[in-house]
Amino acid sequence: MNPFHPLRGRRLSAVGLLAATALLAAGTAAAAPDATTVKASTLGAQAAQSGRYFGTAAAAGKLGDSTYSTILDREFNMITPENEMKWDTTERSRGSFNFGPADQIVNHAAAHGQRMRGHTLVWHSQLPGWVSSITDATTLRSVMKTHITTEMNHFKGKIYAWDVVNEAFADGSSQHRGSVFQNVLGNGFIEEAFRTARAADPAAKLCYNDYNIEDWNAAKTQGVYAMVRDFKSRGVPIDCVGFQSHFGTGGPPASFQTTLSNFAALGVDVQITELDIAQAPATAYANTVKACMNVARCKGITVWGVRDSDSWRTGQKPLLFDNNGNKKPAYNAVLTALGGTPATTARASAAALPSSFRWSSSGALIAPKPDSTHNIAGIKDPSVVYYNGKYHVFASVASSSGYSLVYLSFSDWSQAGSATHHYLDRGAIGTGYRAAPQIFYFAPQKLWYLVYQTGNASYSTNADISNPNGWSAPRNFYASMPDIIRQNIGGGYWVDMWVICDSARCYLFSSDDNGHLYRSQTGLSQFPNGFTNTVIAAQDSNKFALFEASNVYKVQGSNQYLLIVEAIGSDGRRYFRSWTSGSIAGSWTPLAATESNPLARATNVTFPAGAWTKDISHGEMIRAGYDQTLTIPSCRLQYLYQGLNPNASGNYNTLPWRLGLLTQTNSTC
Ligand code: XIL
Repeated sequence: MNPFHPLRGRRLSAVGLLAATALLAAGTAAAAPDATTVKASTLGAQAAQSGRYFGTAAAAGKLGDSTYSTILDREFNMITPENEMKWDTTERSRGSFNFGPADQIVNHAAAHGQRMRGHTLVWHSQLPGWVSSITDATTLRSVMKTHITTEMNHFKGKIYAWDVVNEAFADGSSQHRGSVFQNVLGNGFIEEAFRTARAADPAAKLCYNDYNIEDWNAAKTQGVYAMVRDFKSRGVPIDCVGFQSHFGTGGPPASFQTTLSNFAALGVDVQITELDIAQAPATAYANTVKACMNVARCKGITVWGVRDSDSWRTGQKPLLFDNNGNKKPAYNAVLTALGGTPATTARASAAALPSSFRWSSSGALIAPKPDSTHNIAGIKDPSVVYYNGKYHVFASVASSSGYSLVYLSFSDWSQAGSATHHYLDRGAIGTGYRAAPQIFYFAPQKLWYLVYQTGNASYSTNADISNPNGWSAPRNFYASMPDIIRQNIGGGYWVDMWVICDSARCYLFSSDDNGHLYRSQTGLSQFPNGFTNTVIAAQDSNKFALFEASNVYKVQGSNQYLLIVEAIGSDGRRYFRSWTSGSIAGSWTPLAATESNPLARATNVTFPAGAWTKDISHGEMIRAGYDQTLTIPSCRLQYLYQGLNPNASGNYNTLPWRLGLLTQTNSTC
């Protein structure tokens, strides 16, 4: 944001239409993707285009392996802990619960916008001896209830679907297998487990999960089918059936699709939950995916591990990535069967984002709340993360005497207007020029960072985002303004600092209200220190075309980064232009980058609640996660922005800015 410049006081004369190619470097001149036919280049993003997910089993101990986590976060949008939620980990001795390893995975998933399957609550295997040696029904019933309830409560709100009972049927038979649960509690133990689970977390889907139930003609399949039909007819809570799908080289049985659709017809979702196929033949994988794609209630597919070296069947090389993390032929077959285009044949810009955008805006959701010491006129420059069930919004507040920062949180946008405003100048951040905040969680240090402008680029840290008094005093990223900025800033202002990191480096962007976007970099392990090598990342000879409020995001499930920059249009109104790049430090290719094809401008926004603003100005996308990677979804983007009564005029600092929310209406997924 521009702190002092009275630009809004006068209408700017014709700035002219901006050429889409006006920005820097040549970039790859790939054909822009067509909004209606765009294919994704990763499994998760492509599955999302048909409303499905693509997941994997993951191990907490491997999250620190960067080859592993890079693939995990690029390709998969659902995670099942491979072992961390099993009884022998979570309740090794009676009443003593350990959720640490599973929490690591759940936190990773939340930070990267991935959903979770919970696996598993009641299973005869990986069961501690103290449970399997119980002989008395009253004790076992109580132990089972406590286990289900405690574990589900711990993860409440974070699990899409639970495998409540796993592998309860005997091989080659339509009867239950022998187990302590079956032997001590009898046939009713499955029903008891599901009823307990529903009471513990009514929002989670409850699945029965098993292997060798993919062939419709198998006795075991018929046994599980009869159970689900019985549960549905008697109102026993069950929402889904998981087909593990641990296949031999031949892949799925010919009747697999029939099995999926017959179960779905009982009124449950079906999911492929642990897919791996000996030797990973491409056709066998494609046939499995097609069976799911052909059944509307087949909601998603999970493979049982990332690389062959991660597999429990490692000798059979059954997965989609080889030991080095390279895609195997089966990977491309799966992507194609999901409806996508493998990278080798895809256009260079294959992207999940369209090349033109349409939005619908809310009314003004958040207005300033002046108090006796904050005589403010506007609330501006919002930064927002969704964390722990709440939106956390940081913003500038403006008055004729200058700028400071405010924090508010709420669980739902309908509550945004009534949230309490906490002024951050009451704590260690202090008074004086502090504006244009950016919030993110820096996972390597387990700390929240608030980045803001003070004349320098500054930051404060806090272990608890919800504690407005917990922020540290401002520190500067730079000893002084980097030379290249001093040499190019002209009559502009140094504003809108923005940090984003990939797996190796962090980058600090800033604008100068004079047509330049700057970028500095440091190592991930050095952050927040060491920002050097400041360069001009983008520039435009028309300063209004590349003005301020730049954001850079990682697009989930693609190899793309999105750059958006606020411009001032020929009508004097604020709007956004956009570019993409394959890397944060790469050159930027125009996406929707003109006045006539903008990212967001009053002209491509509808206002069902009334056209309260003609400016779409400084704000932030709602992210898929909340960490330093600044990952946004590729579908149904949302952008929290500042807007303004079109009739307002006067001093820029006392204009009545309000915050509203754009929701993309033309996403193809
Ligand atoms: C396997 C894990 O992959 C192994 O690491 C572990 O040693 C044994 O369990 N059916 C299931 C999964 O439901 O939990 C199993 O996972 C594989 C078979």
